[in-house]
Amino acid sequence: DWTMGAYRTEAIAKIREQVGDKQVICGLSGGVDSSVAAVLIHEAIGDQLTCVFVDHGLLRQNEADEVVTMFRDNYNIPLIHADESDLFLGELEGVSDPETKRKIIGRLFIDVFQKYASQIDGAEFLAQGTLYPDVIESVSFSGGPSVTIKSHHNVGGLPEKMGLKLVEPLRELFKDEVRALGRELGLPASFIGRHPFPGPGLAIRCPGEITREKLDILRRADAVYIDQIRKHGLYDEIWQAFAAILPMRTVGVMGDGRTYDFALALRAVTSVDGMTADYYPFTHEFLGETSTRIINEVRGINRVFYDCTSKPPGTIELE
Ligand code: XMP
Repeated sequence: DWTMGAYRTEAIAKIREQVGDKQVICGLSGGVDSSVAAVLIHEAIGDQLTCVFVDHGLLRQNEADEVVTMFRDNYNIPLIHADESDLFLGELEGVSDPETKRKIIGRLFIDVFQKYASQIDGAEFLAQGTLYPDVIESVSFSGGPSVTIKSHHNVGGLPEKMGLKLVEPLRELFKDEVRALGRELGLPASFIGRHPFPGPGLAIRCPGEITREKLDILRRADAVYIDQIRKHGLYDEIWQAFAAILPMRTVGVMGDGRTYDFALALRAVTSVDGMTADYYPFTHEFLGETSTRIINEVRGINRVFYDCTSKPPGTIELE
């Protein structure tokens, strides 16, 4: 891609000019934006960049390993894997209100990030994968009336608190351009095409109280669901798909026995920007097969529902 090739060269020159010989910290989420930003900055300044990956214990199956392997081993980017799942899950114990969950996660995220970042000597810059739509949104919303449905957690306010200057090499790009830049930088296509994943992770896919048992069941069920979607060649047609474990047990029958296990909700939507969304019209064959696989392969689930709510009136996540 000629355009992205030129953008890459220009962005690298700008990063070098801005940063000089100083150290840069980048919070890596495993998402496309922060990943593309990290790889681009690494190309510009090499080991002057250190990434911090905050693992809150609310990631999907194998996700933490995949992120660490890709960045540390494949790209040789200095990476701190901050495994703080005990801290996050401990503070979330007994909490069931969605907004309270988000606030706890957001606060701990900043604390943890700050703790690890302060160990990096001479850091003067914080890198973020801010995109152009993020820039416009924060301008047009400032001062005006706004309705907050969900307080999305981010690291806003962190740079000032830590006395760091921002490096935002994707500020002029839209999402599809970031993907093109990612391809240009050699990130795997499967990685670039990944569905969006929310900052609070599985916390908001486990409505009500979060327990390790529920998270464990959810991870396995979600992996089977996504495997089904990929096997049927539907992954790229869907904007976002995931399973959520419902805060209820239902009665079922298996062999000669009665079961009393959790119910699972499956969600899949098409969307352009996540602001509105339509539920995905799976065939009954697909739904039946997926339900059977999940119940056979995942202990702890004995019932599967498909969420056919569009947005509005539903939101994409269950919380
Ligand atoms: P909703 O559920 O609001 O989701 O329809 C729209 C998009 O935003 C994601 N989402 C979040 N992302 N922090 C995030 O970083 C959050 O708290 C959060 N809540 C929702 C959601 O996955 C979807 O892509």
